[in-house]
Amino acid sequence: MNTPRRIRRIPTCLTAATAVAALFTVSACGSGSSSAQSGGSNAKQLEVFSWWTSGSEDAALKDLITGFQKANPGVKVVNGAVAGGGGGNAQAVLQTRLQGSNPPDTWQTHPGAAIGEYTKSGLAADLSSVYQQDGLSKVIPEELVTSVSKDGKIYGVSTGAHRGNELWFNKKLTARAGVDLTASTTPAQLVAALGRLKAKGITPLCLGGKDAFATAELFENILLGVVGPSGWNSLTSGKTAWTDAKVKQAAGLFKKVLPYADPDASALTWDQATKRLAAGDCAVESMGDWAYGELLKDGAKDGSDFGYVPQPGTDGTFVVVVDTFVVAENAKHKDLALKWASAISSPEVQLAFSKDKGSTPIRTDVPTDSLPAYQQQAAKSFRGDTLVQSVVHGEAMNPQFQQSFFDAVTQFVQSKDVDSFVEALATAAKS
Ligand code: GAL
Repeated sequence: MNTPRRIRRIPTCLTAATAVAALFTVSACGSGSSSAQSGGSNAKQLEVFSWWTSGSEDAALKDLITGFQKANPGVKVVNGAVAGGGGGNAQAVLQTRLQGSNPPDTWQTHPGAAIGEYTKSGLAADLSSVYQQDGLSKVIPEELVTSVSKDGKIYGVSTGAHRGNELWFNKKLTARAGVDLTASTTPAQLVAALGRLKAKGITPLCLGGKDAFATAELFENILLGVVGPSGWNSLTSGKTAWTDAKVKQAAGLFKKVLPYADPDASALTWDQATKRLAAGDCAVESMGDWAYGELLKDGAKDGSDFGYVPQPGTDGTFVVVVDTFVVAENAKHKDLALKWASAISSPEVQLAFSKDKGSTPIRTDVPTDSLPAYQQQAAKSFRGDTLVQSVVHGEAMNPQFQQSFFDAVTQFVQSKDVDSFVEALATAAKS
């Protein structure tokens, strides 16, 4: 079987778990795992697999589960979430389960190359009947439907669109250092701002380096700020080599930014880093707007406690990270899994989910005026900006390149060797 593989990290259950995630780690890796993995015996049970275990992710996942159970009373939902931001650990667990022909009924993924791994290997079920029954094609932008489709069949339902390229900052700390971040701040000005924060004794950069995706996302965002959307598409489509001067320039900036990171970064997950920003223990974090949901969950107030701007150099471009579910072709509870796909696509469930998650509802008919100002603005950008897909979240390039990207970033954090970094990326892109 041609099974997808993405992040090589070994799931470490309790050692990988944060306190917040422990409940779910146990559910997926500990005593609950047998119930998750032998769920086939109970016809009124559905296993939902994801990596949503941080405070905001957990709340948003529960919104989906509540919506599903409201439409399907009496069905037990087994939450198979595996802790690890960006899905690092979850992907490893999922791969093992798919190889063992023991798929969860439904699992989290992203459009583009990520879902393509499941459609090309026949692991994902055709959801066209759900689209037809619920009229989804009329309310979901065509490009998004295309990005979860293959050969005329639709394989994914999406819950919300995140913006990957946002820069979050603690307002008191930036004010103390006289740093004014705006949509027109340039990448070089960001480096200078980090220096000013440091000079005031502030930890400039919040970073959850324990989640491999977080450092990779920092580079993805810096790179986009240098190459722009057309340069990004040229790189990800193979038209421009990864040894291009602009990639080197971005790597040079990344090298300048890294020393400003929280010295504890390697022990922190992305959400722990976000908590530090909220608490005033570090100043600036480059992170997708799931951080917005997390900041609110941490009790931080938009406007007074924290602010946000697009990653310097990327105003007008939206790195679209679309949370999507597939149904296993060989699901033990396929009828319920199809009902899950339908329930989580309803306007009410999409809105409740987005409120907790910080994302933008995918459906164009969901009113966004009850969402906080940040999300209303993100929803406008989502509908008006130039959209590009993420490498880090597996959309723009295949899982092999995605893994090489992670590996190259990890290596670069140690070596700071720009030439070997771009060579590694170029070699991965060629193969
Ligand atoms: C992304 C996912 C987001 C968020 C993030 C951090 O891959 O699309 O919803 O959960 O990982 O875990």
